[in-house]
Amino acid sequence: MAAQLWVIGSGKGGVGKTFITSSLGITLSKLDKKVLLIDLDFGGANLHTALGKVHSTTTIADYWAGTKSLKECFLDTHIPRLTYVQGHWDQWTPFALNLENVRKMIKESRELPFDIVIFDLGPGASEFHLELFHQADEKFLIVCPEPTSIEKNYRFMESFIMWTLKENATPDAYARLVTALGQYRAKHNVGAFSFRDYLSDAVGFQFDYFSALDQKPVRMIVNQARSQQDRELGYSMQSVCRKFYDMPMSYLGWIDYDNAVWQSVRVRTPVLVDKPFTPLAGQFLSMSKELTQTNFVSQFLRAVV
Ligand SMILES: Nc1ncnc2c1ncn2[C@@H]1O[C@H](COP(=O)(O)OP(=O)(O)OP(=O)(O)O)[C@@H](O)[C@H]1O
Ligand SMILES: [Mg+2]
Repeated sequence: MAAQLWVIGSGKGGVGKTFITSSLGITLSKLDKKVLLIDLDFGGANLHTALGKVHSTTTIADYWAGTKSLKECFLDTHIPRLTYVQGHWDQWTPFALNLENVRKMIKESRELPFDIVIFDLGPGASEFHLELFHQADEKFLIVCPEPTSIEKNYRFMESFIMWTLKENATPDAYARLVTALGQYRAKHNVGAFSFRDYLSDAVGFQFDYFSALDQKPVRMIVNQARSQQDRELGYSMQSVCRKFYDMPMSYLGWIDYDNAVWQSVRVRTPVLVDKPFTPLAGQFLSMSKELTQTNFVSQFLRAVV
């Protein structure tokens, strides 16, 4: 069976994508899933550090250069059923990813002998991030309870809507949408452009984008929650997305702020390995169960249909 592809992104940097990628990987592997984590942060790859591993000379760059297959880039975590591919970064010669190569990697990843492949991205809505969000089976946006992170996640959502529409529109129709959006912003400054209203009257868009999105909503995770108000942030973002963008977004849950997280990074042991029986571990466990349960149900329904 094809591997499920999951992708973890965020509008703002430093909100906990890599921590969540490694923790979901560890938790899913305990639930008997065979998991591959791939570090795609070209600005400062550090998934290996979150997994408590030292830097390896084998990186995803070998795959992009065509000298190794993805399989030849696999590295062992010493956690049963959990494998990773180390990221690559180079400040001296910044790296630009070709979209065709990304599409090839997505296709090849589905064929790998894993139940789930999780991509850890750098921050922001670059083209290859949006393409991964577009094609993945599960997509997660991580948000911290602070205004800069919240605002940047809304910008990410807008970019994601536009990216998906672009692929399903004639160039003329897309150009008209960009003009309409520009005029709207000039008039209203912020907020409520209704893509649904616009698309219901527009010609040149080839499918019902919103009903397609309804089936695969972006999932939001609030990380570093310190209060009940922080935990409820996901619900308000969920309703804002529906109200402003007509965009279904599902709030998966929150992860508490816990000093043990950064303390564990310092001693190079993942916190879920160091402290497996904490409320934090419980939060990852219930998320992972919900995600694998949902997949099971949807696969079952697909099989029945
Ligand atoms: N729930 C948490 N509680 C306490 N500290 C946390 C938590 N989540 C993440 N951190 C800490 O916050 C810092 C940033 O986390 P991380 O590197 O996972 O973010 P990121 O989104 O991957 O960053 P980047 O955008 O640079 O890739 C790390 O030092 C990590 O240990
Ligand atoms: Mg990161």
